[in-house]
Amino acid sequence: MKIDPAQRLAQLANQLEEHNYRYYVLAEPVISDREYDRLWHELLDLEEMHPELRSPHSPSQRVSGQPTSDFPTVAHSAPMLSLDNSYSHEDIEAFDRRVRQALPDEEIGYVAELKIDGVALSLVYENSILVRAVTRGDGVQGDEITANARTIRSIPLRLRQPGVSCEVRGEVYMQNDDFARLNKERTADGEPLFANPRNSTAGSLKQQDPAVVARRSLRYFAYWIRRDNASFSTHYDSLEHLRQLGLPVNPNGARCNSLAEVIAFYERFALQRESLPYEIDGVVIKVDDLDQQQRLGFTAKSPRGAIAYKFAAYQAHTRLLDIQLQVGRTGAVTPVAILEPVLLAGSTISRASLHNADEIARKDIRIGDLIVLEKGGDVIPKIVSVVESERPAQNAPYQFPTTCPVCAAKLVRDEDEAATRCENPTCPAQLKRRLEHFAGRSAMDIEGMGPAVVEQLVEHELVGNVGDLYNLTLQQLSALERMGEKSAQNLLDGLSASKERGFDRVLFAIGIRHVGATVARTLARHFQSLDALRQATANELEEVPEIGPKIALSVFSALHSGELDDLFEQLKAAGLELEMARVENGDTALETSYFSDKTIVITGTLERFSRDEASALVERLGGHTTSSVSKKTDILLYGDKAGSKLAKAQSLGIETMDEVAFVAELQKAGIAE
Ligand code: IVH
Repeated sequence: MKIDPAQRLAQLANQLEEHNYRYYVLAEPVISDREYDRLWHELLDLEEMHPELRSPHSPSQRVSGQPTSDFPTVAHSAPMLSLDNSYSHEDIEAFDRRVRQALPDEEIGYVAELKIDGVALSLVYENSILVRAVTRGDGVQGDEITANARTIRSIPLRLRQPGVSCEVRGEVYMQNDDFARLNKERTADGEPLFANPRNSTAGSLKQQDPAVVARRSLRYFAYWIRRDNASFSTHYDSLEHLRQLGLPVNPNGARCNSLAEVIAFYERFALQRESLPYEIDGVVIKVDDLDQQQRLGFTAKSPRGAIAYKFAAYQAHTRLLDIQLQVGRTGAVTPVAILEPVLLAGSTISRASLHNADEIARKDIRIGDLIVLEKGGDVIPKIVSVVESERPAQNAPYQFPTTCPVCAAKLVRDEDEAATRCENPTCPAQLKRRLEHFAGRSAMDIEGMGPAVVEQLVEHELVGNVGDLYNLTLQQLSALERMGEKSAQNLLDGLSASKERGFDRVLFAIGIRHVGATVARTLARHFQSLDALRQATANELEEVPEIGPKIALSVFSALHSGELDDLFEQLKAAGLELEMARVENGDTALETSYFSDKTIVITGTLERFSRDEASALVERLGGHTTSSVSKKTDILLYGDKAGSKLAKAQSLGIETMDEVAFVAELQKAGIAE
């Protein structure tokens, strides 16, 4: 029997949305992740075969829209207020008294909910379709981030009842496991870590590229709805209504008929908070009757009928056993507190960063002190203070060492930074960190070169810099502890394979300060080769889009100090790639094309290409694309409905190119018929 593709697509789309609803809203999935993936891929394959049948409401179209350079500002239909905070039972009793005084002789019921630690987002549905998502902003107006919100799978693109127009408000958040995974990936990529799930949620929503947001596993809990002719008259029933419309509502909200019940709810979740899969920073207490809420009105900032009761930060007391110095790959020395192990918010803590010498002096932290450890919004615990009354008389003020604990070189305090550094380039600790970085997954990805091997290579003085790695022999390696001939050969194979990683990876791997994976890629693509990069002046470096003066200076001085000269010779002799031979799609970049070394911005809708495709073509021809128009832009490629970017390019006198001219250039380069 032949299946009608249009029918099957509609069926798949419905099934997938239904499973999304079961998973995110009801939290009762009925199929396995694998089964879900199977349906998902069937849908993608079918749409690929029949692009004309792809509907804008298809689940595959959650990532639509193109990267933007800024988000439009949109006014809220009614201000998005915040809540008053309270921190004690007395504060809550006072809130309850105020409510009762304002509504004398009325019965008051409350709803207690979890206060999700995320980012507020308003969703506007028209005729049951999600048409707009706006952040809180300053409360009066916020950023319109609809394309980003569409990527959040728990936000329905279409409500489960027809013909509904309404506004929904709620919290976007990231689960703790997704947060941990994101930070792990960022560590591997050499990117700065997010301090907590809320920061990573906020950072993700600000991303200009919806495809990036889609990979961040954000979720949503709705807690408020406004619609005309509503059938509900209490907040509790409005939550049920949200569920019926298909929105995810946190399951823990509860009606409380007395203040005692509210407080019991708070106490229960103060204890359970650690076992929830997401962060909460308190509970929210709301007057249940919506008419009463209305009559209570608002202060300038917040409704009088609701209040947040915040949890205290997690705290623990423990003893500071020692302060050790950790030497990083750039020589920065970080003091680390070694603690008597203590349980804090579900994990055992035995170390905490002390950041720098000033921090220790300011808090007068001494070895042997009883200290107060806190885990607030941040995942990394910090020492907030010492209990001076418990200080044994013999505890002397901490003297920050003046020499490196590893190589005994004199430590130098940076003029403009709080950091202290070991400036000995041959310091074994720095060398180990440099080797680990070099071998890391997003750098040269050398299999078989973990920290234990690095340790031995340095201790046995087999390598004095990363270039020496490529001279190691089977004999040398198999003589190392716990290293048989087989693993020695594996490491040699790993080293050999690393020679093909590409110039951008090499540039990241050598560990120039301020050059992370992304900056390295930008520089490599722009200059194409190490030789060209070394010839660049500091000004030329700074002119590269996305490269600021700090990075430009750091790269320029690293390349011209002479310190890297021998290393580059070694890497070249070993056969590493020091120029961009390949581009991402496997084709060779043409040496000269109209786009070579030019910065192109693409705007509007092109007929023949998506923006990603056009951008890939530009890169294949040696150019590169950025998202916003500036003096550094060489060409603006524009399609239909090009707006402010075209106007800006014209006002800056930047060359503009339409799709016909673009295709003509592609033809000249031989990559389009
Ligand atoms: S009700 C008038 N309920 O906490 C504000 N807020 O300042 C009504 N939040 O901005 C908010 N969980 O982002 C409400 N269950 C919940 C919440 C919640 C988290 C956030 C929200 C708001 C902030 C309070």
